[in-house]
Amino acid sequence: MSFPVITIDGPSGAGKGTVCLRLAQALGYRLLDSGALYRIVGLKAFEAGLLNELSLTEQVVADITELTQSLDIQFLPRDTGDVDIVVNGVNVAGEIRNETVGGYASKVAALPSVREALLALQKNMANESGLIADGRDMGTVVFPNADAKVYLTASAEARADRRVAQLQQAGERADYAAILTSIQERDERDENRSVAPSKPAKDALVLDSSSMNADDVFAQIKKFCQQKG
Ligand code: C5P
Repeated sequence: MSFPVITIDGPSGAGKGTVCLRLAQALGYRLLDSGALYRIVGLKAFEAGLLNELSLTEQVVADITELTQSLDIQFLPRDTGDVDIVVNGVNVAGEIRNETVGGYASKVAALPSVREALLALQKNMANESGLIADGRDMGTVVFPNADAKVYLTASAEARADRRVAQLQQAGERADYAAILTSIQERDERDENRSVAPSKPAKDALVLDSSSMNADDVFAQIKKFCQQKG
């Protein structure tokens, strides 16, 4: 039996996380946060001292790949709607959600052997129930036969504004210029890498959320999925 899969791809800060969570709750589907997988590998590779060099040697790439294969990663949904992300027995959900780890993630995500090592885990998540898959290559590489595909984007400036607001709300310091630069650098790496670059699938609905609120984004995507289903 195969279960429905909805893919939502696009850059960080376009609103994918929020809309994916709402869709998963509304439809009773599981949620695959594929960005978290790359963030985990990025964080662990950094902690192991493997991301120090500007360009990664063959040996370092082999070490990062081996490290990726050795990780036991589990997504454990809580009643609150949050998801615990447990790596080798430790919940890292809080630790991976910052721009620094996002930068590490986009470095390891450019390595084909790392992407390959994470493929089976992602595909297997569609074996048990309907799935909302959040990422960069969900519709193009991981689930090319998905039932509905969306590419949710927004200008880098709008995404930086949102990130600043989020940080301020959490009582944290926010430097707009630094955040914008970091977003632009990450976009550049994600869109121009040779393997699984971030781009819309040919059959995806492309939605620009720069001047939309979260309710409008949710309503439009839900309507699109219902038309597809
Ligand atoms: O979506 P999020 O910001 O958590 O993703 C972190 C990084 O992981 C991205 O900048 C990208 O480099 C990488 N990524 C990826 N493919 C995915 C999801 C994320 O390459 N499917």
